[in-house]
Amino acid sequence: MTIQLGIIGFPIGHSLSPVFQQAALDHLKLAATYSTWEIDPVNLHSFIDSLRSSDIQGINVTVPHKESVLPFLDHVDEWARQAGAVNTIVNRCGELFGYNTDGIGFIKGLRHSHSFDLQNKTVLIIGAGGSARGVVRALANESVGNIIIANRTLSRAQSLSMLSMGLGVSAQAISLDWQELSQAAVQSELIVNCTSVGMAHTAEFGSSPLLCQQIPPNSVVYDLVYNPIETQMLREAARAGAAVISGIKMLVYQGAASFELWFDKPAPVDVMLESADKAIQDMSERPD
Ligand SMILES: NC(=O)c1ccc[n+]([C@@H]2O[C@H](COP(=O)([O-])OP(=O)(O)OC[C@H]3O[C@@H](n4cnc5c(N)ncnc54)[C@H](OP(=O)(O)O)[C@@H]3O)[C@@H](O)[C@H]2O)c1
Repeated sequence: MTIQLGIIGFPIGHSLSPVFQQAALDHLKLAATYSTWEIDPVNLHSFIDSLRSSDIQGINVTVPHKESVLPFLDHVDEWARQAGAVNTIVNRCGELFGYNTDGIGFIKGLRHSHSFDLQNKTVLIIGAGGSARGVVRALANESVGNIIIANRTLSRAQSLSMLSMGLGVSAQAISLDWQELSQAAVQSELIVNCTSVGMAHTAEFGSSPLLCQQIPPNSVVYDLVYNPIETQMLREAARAGAAVISGIKMLVYQGAASFELWFDKPAPVDVMLESADKAIQDMSERPD
């Protein structure tokens, strides 16, 4: 019997997960297919219920369903509950288990390129949406010393800083004011972009939340945006002399963690990274 896996979202056409998940399945010669299902929010509950009696062994969940899927599951693990979002579901004999692998993906993506110890470090997070929430949770788990959260909507940065403090990490919320952002950046060993600024096919493509002169040369700059792989923010950081990490690493590592939940065996991360890199390159060579 062919194992069925897939991803749900709305819309879903742009997702890279089918590319690198299928590459992993093929590499390990598993009789399994990874599909995409575009699920309108009004049909989410019935789709999730239908999983229980189906041959679908597991799914990934992406925008806009990560939060709304929680009440429809039988079990939700602690990380997913704290992040308030599920990105992986495992179907175990009709019982649905929800997990969130974004935090693990973020940390493993960081470790892939850099071995520095996060303990007691100061981290600047730009953005306060769903991904920033997962990043704060992951950083708290690594015992960072201080998190500065900068966001266009200050109230969202303030509520995320409350979450951080609830997890035992001191935090401050700031706006995107140039002066405040520059002062925050200068104190930070790690700078993470959790906004969509710089993303391909958006009005902010080619923009960066920070400019070269604001980035300390001894910092690591991690952009969660993965299309393009080399965003304007990573260009600014490289020009400043900082180390850079593309969001493609997090994307693949969170998918690898999902794969390991479904199959209980190590995912072929190098194969997944290679296929994701190639898919992005193919996309950037294609006209809109
Ligand atoms: N690499 C990965 O595995 C991975 C995983 C998750 C997400 N991502 C990427 O991370 C980005 C954010 O995702 P998300 O799920 O956190 O989205 P989200 O929940 O919608 O949050 C979006 C964030 O971006 C900010 N923002 C949007 N447009 C902006 C602009 N023009 N100027 C300044 N700030 C702006 C928002 O600020 P306001 O609060 O003021 O609206 C908010 O903080 C996306 O590009 C997504 O593709 C990557």
